Amino acid sequence: MSSYLIRNAQILGGAPQDILVDGGVIQQIGPGPTVEADIDIDATGLILLPGLVDLHTHLREPGKEDAETVLTGTQAAAKGGFTAVHAMANTTPVADNATVVEQVWQLGRDSGYCDVHPVGAVTVGLEGKELAELAAMHGSAAGVRVFSDDGKCVDDAVLMRAALEFAKSVDGVVAQHAQEPRLTEGAQMNEGTVSAELGLGGWPAVAEEAIIARDVLLAGHLGARLHVCHLSTVGSVRIVRWAKSQGWDVTAEVTPHHLLLTDEMVRSGDPVFKVNPPLRTETDVLALREALADGTIDAVATDHAPHPDADKDCAWAVAAMGMVGLETALSVVQQTMVDTGLMNWEGVADRMSHRPARIGRLTGQGRPIAVGEPANLVLFDPAHRSVVDAATFATRSRNTPFRGLELPGRVHATFLRGMPTVLAGELVDQGDLS
Ligand code: DOR
Ligand code: ZN
Repeated sequence: MSSYLIRNAQILGGAPQDILVDGGVIQQIGPGPTVEADIDIDATGLILLPGLVDLHTHLREPGKEDAETVLTGTQAAAKGGFTAVHAMANTTPVADNATVVEQVWQLGRDSGYCDVHPVGAVTVGLEGKELAELAAMHGSAAGVRVFSDDGKCVDDAVLMRAALEFAKSVDGVVAQHAQEPRLTEGAQMNEGTVSAELGLGGWPAVAEEAIIARDVLLAGHLGARLHVCHLSTVGSVRIVRWAKSQGWDVTAEVTPHHLLLTDEMVRSGDPVFKVNPPLRTETDVLALREALADGTIDAVATDHAPHPDADKDCAWAVAAMGMVGLETALSVVQQTMVDTGLMNWEGVADRMSHRPARIGRLTGQGRPIAVGEPANLVLFDPAHRSVVDAATFATRSRNTPFRGLELPGRVHATFLRGMPTVLAGELVDQGDLS
């Protein structure tokens, strides 16, 4: 394994330092370690952050390899600065048993581009009728601690209670996709003035908020840990803020697209903007940014949801929901949170690495940048600007809502336990490294 001397990097945006990485570990930090390294990296002007951790990634394998594979998804993750992702359970077959979660975990290990932590489904087949094999998934090699029916809501309160109780017994967490199913039947976009004008079925904010309200009460009652996926409304923020004020173990995430885009985009009719939960209003976007800055929202999670062209280049009504996001996440966070003055790079490290790692109970990820720590790192160039071009993506899918948009920042390098997965903005073939 080669050693790396990263020169003049600004750790969390601070003063330039030199960082020596050897044997997978940060060996020295300071103005100018005098030792020689195999490879020197000039990081002048670059920010050094802990490797990013995504709590919400759809890798699609097994079953939808035309959209993504574990290999292409983890390559996209590495290009986005991620060193660990949680792979959502809505694969085919569903990751509701030990066999499937072990398969995904093993594919992640084989890829070598980032750690893959499979999420286990809460209910068999995501059908919301009976609990999945939670204990077997937890006890498997994948060691599942995050359980979610994401894509679907666990709307049966008795099942949700049982899942929370099980999660509590293993120091795990239930990640809820909060969507009251009856209130969102036939819904195509956010319910509001735009949906009324376009004549599209509306998706009311209350459908999200009602489930979150119920679930924080359940979590508080049980003393269990609840994580709320992709918060999208100002009302959801208020409920999470209140739950935290009660001392309950409730965490929440927001996606980059909900930090930047509004339901006005739907006027284009382009299904690239169709997503679940839907893009909301300017008021919601501003509340989400504020809540991320003040820590009410714990994490940015991508909800990277790749879909093949055929499922997106079609009529709005029949298009699949979801957007790819791994390769643009950090740039969108820079644009919406850092360049707006709402958050500094320490905050970015906290919301995109430290806190998501803690929520997933990962060890060795989301660690501080300090001597003796595993070298999971991302070097980011905040001065770079470029127009998003899906053709350059590593993900197998092209459904980015940011295409054609100029965004700040670029991942220069990503290190996974001291091994570069990305150097000078390009993927490093993991087969070529020794
Ligand atoms: O837009 C979405 N796409 N939201 C989800 O919850 C699921 C995801 C998917 O799997 O495509
Ligand atoms: Zn979801």
